[in-house]
Amino acid sequence: MPITREFTSGLPKAELHVHIEGTLEPDLKLKLAQRNHIDIGQQTVEEVQKTYDYDDLASFLAVYYPAMDVLQKEQDFYDLAFAYLERAATNNVRHVEMFFDPQAHTSRGIAFETVLHGLHRAIVDARALNIDAALIMCFLRDFTSESARQTLVEALPYKDQLVGVGLDSDEHNNPPLKFARQFADAAAAGLHLTAHADIDQKDSIEHIRQALEIIGVERLDHGTNIVEDPDLVDFVSKNQIGLTSCPLSNAFISPEMKGKEVLELLAKGVKVSIHSDDPAYFGGYIADNYYAIASKFDLTKEQVVQLAKNSFESSWISKEQKALYLKELDEYVATH
Ligand code: ADE
Ligand code: ZN
Repeated sequence: MPITREFTSGLPKAELHVHIEGTLEPDLKLKLAQRNHIDIGQQTVEEVQKTYDYDDLASFLAVYYPAMDVLQKEQDFYDLAFAYLERAATNNVRHVEMFFDPQAHTSRGIAFETVLHGLHRAIVDARALNIDAALIMCFLRDFTSESARQTLVEALPYKDQLVGVGLDSDEHNNPPLKFARQFADAAAAGLHLTAHADIDQKDSIEHIRQALEIIGVERLDHGTNIVEDPDLVDFVSKNQIGLTSCPLSNAFISPEMKGKEVLELLAKGVKVSIHSDDPAYFGGYIADNYYAIASKFDLTKEQVVQLAKNSFESSWISKEQKALYLKELDEYVATH
């Protein structure tokens, strides 16, 4: 029987690859622009959507970063994160580890604390929605390593409000190794490590190798080009490294949305899982991403369930929490 949209919506799951700034929906963007007296050049949702014209990482980021101007006050970051968590709860997301990009805000004069306090307050309040969430602070890889160092210094007094650090933005000529020192310092402070290895980059395999063998990441965000190197596939399989794939964002770059690669990795026992990346920009939240890959590639129920299992297993929660979520997943599968 084909997988239904309802099945993917109700499936208990963890969201491990969502950029909170990428959940800024056009209507909230317009509302914040008005509230903060910022002229973004568009007046309607349709006009905003017309600017969403991209076909690779660089052209996407050129639309994505300027839009963040509407985020000015702590309440704006709160509203952004709370709205996302409400939506995630309706997708039966049980646990979220969300990325945020402090440098995208501090570089335009917004204090680090303004960003963190707003996001953290939303996470605390969303517990009433029966969803638990944590923050992953990303370094912008097209900024200098000195800027990453300063960002980590600002963040460390609040390290209890972070679960890990990541690496995002424009990968072209910005290898993980550029941030080796900052990753080592973050790990020494007890933070988990992940890094983007965006799809079909100039140096995809070399960047994946650096992230795994030198930086020592525990997850790779995207990372599906790894199938080109069987030794690296063996490495992630043996070391239970999670790969967080995002079909709808992949579809903007590669029409096959890396579905074959996800299935190949799944068959090899790699902890690959499905996520939403920047859902307000790529046309769907996490359940839509599950449905997109399941319907396009005729996934079996067992494959879809394994993807959800992998999301909990590669999350940074305790083994006791994992056991509870996995039991909930088993119960869902037994009754649907
Ligand atoms: N920032 C937001 N989405 C991103 C992605 N997919 N890759 C790199 N940086 C990002
Ligand atoms: Zn991403």
